[in-house]
Amino acid sequence: MKNQRIIIFDTTLRDGEQCPGASMNLREKLEVARQLARLKVDVIEAGFPIISDGDFASVQTIAREIKGPKICGLARCVSKDIDAAGAALKPAGKRARIHVFLATSKIHREFKLGKAQDEIIRLAVEGVKRARALVDDVEFSPEDASRTEPDFLIQVCRAVVAAGASTVNIPDTVGFALPDQFGALIGQLFESVPEFKSGKAIISVHCHNDLGLAVANSLAAVRNGARQVECTINGIGERAGNASLEEVIMAMKTRRDFYTGIECGVVTREIVKSSRLVARMSGLAVQRNKAIVGENAFAHSAGIHQDGILKKRETYEIMNPVEVGWGTTELPLTKHSGRAAMAARLKHLGFQLADEELNAVFSRFKEIGDKKKFVYDDDLSALVEGQITEVNETWVLDYLSVSSGNQTVPTATVRLKKANGKHAELCQEAAIGDGPVDAALKAIDRLTRITGKLMDYSLRAVSQGKDALGEVTVKVDFGNKDLVTGKGASTDIIEASTRAYLNAVNRHMIMDKESRKTGRKCAQP
Ligand code: KIV
Ligand code: ZN
Repeated sequence: MKNQRIIIFDTTLRDGEQCPGASMNLREKLEVARQLARLKVDVIEAGFPIISDGDFASVQTIAREIKGPKICGLARCVSKDIDAAGAALKPAGKRARIHVFLATSKIHREFKLGKAQDEIIRLAVEGVKRARALVDDVEFSPEDASRTEPDFLIQVCRAVVAAGASTVNIPDTVGFALPDQFGALIGQLFESVPEFKSGKAIISVHCHNDLGLAVANSLAAVRNGARQVECTINGIGERAGNASLEEVIMAMKTRRDFYTGIECGVVTREIVKSSRLVARMSGLAVQRNKAIVGENAFAHSAGIHQDGILKKRETYEIMNPVEVGWGTTELPLTKHSGRAAMAARLKHLGFQLADEELNAVFSRFKEIGDKKKFVYDDDLSALVEGQITEVNETWVLDYLSVSSGNQTVPTATVRLKKANGKHAELCQEAAIGDGPVDAALKAIDRLTRITGKLMDYSLRAVSQGKDALGEVTVKVDFGNKDLVTGKGASTDIIEASTRAYLNAVNRHMIMDKESRKTGRKCAQP
């Protein structure tokens, strides 16, 4: 009988973070990793250590701080990549996994690598052996496996397993596969490699969503013998994304009649919290109608549905929303709540903050508490997430005044505090613009002498009510390869916009400093 335990390998911090505009700083990645540990995924792919010093540091910090899941680092089949992954993963000890990849499809062999089949096998085997000299747990991915000739793919699988890989991941790198065909390919590999049948090695799958089939392909693979699924929270990832963790898990759970005996260790009640955290940290909002975690996923508007639900929930609901973490909100805090009450609520929400971070959040909490009656869990999360994205902040908003109206030239006066060692300098500018936000951002550009081009702007209410906190996410082009995301929250949407833009400016300055120090070391896979 096939082993029935499905290993959930989360790659939100690697493939997920690779998608444009989703880059997270170390503090944000650590917060996501902590939540993934609470969600009880089996493996966290924490990054690609050779890519930059920042990636190396994230993998190393996650390997040191996060207990529970295995921690994995990605490496090309190249010695320096594998050695960097081994070094970054050291603090994880026995829980370290190195994930080595090399393309195997004809098109990649001929046009990207210029290598013949036997050369690919030789390099793959060498890479796996080198990784095995550093850690016990090695995964190998034949990149673009779904477009690789099946006979050659079988040869690759046999060779890397013999060299010491205990997991062989079959990526549908370009999202080309169809469920029946991909399932059949996994079945063929399962039957053709004795170690897969005996359970000495397992098949993993890693599906991209270019045709909207990543989850369907992953599920078809599980039916045919795959025992690890690689996925991301909210399905974020390269291009159209990766298989969404919440959809894969809940499909197997809801249809356990079909996935008989299949088990996985994920704590489903942590799903909604994980989704919201990743949306905030990555700046990639979740569409309202997204399965499981979208705002509308359990909202029944048709009267006939509502009537049925009231009579018996299962008439129109195939899952219990509580099971995935909806509807667990506690009593809101108010301006009278003290620091201890706020700290206790933050702990309950899963945040681990240093004392000075708690102080900063508490002073923002008091400001907000003066403006709105109740401070809900979501408001609090927005404040914390605003705070932890502001580590090493250089420019801080001190004062903002705007005037606008249909007969007024929109004008903004902005005063910023600039951190300068132990001292802080205050500087002030005024500007006019097309609207109050434009005017405020122009004043910031003048003060910071950094000009950003606003490429994307979104505003959402964090909670309900006219006094809700508005959370603004901006994506700004500062002339680098990647857009920089910034976030800000306030009951005043002009202030939220100003905070979000300033957050992007500060992040840009930190990234710029880091890349000047280290330089990008290699291209993304
Ligand atoms: O999509 C892909 O092929 C990958 C590999 C590195 C596993 O992300
Ligand atoms: Zn991928």
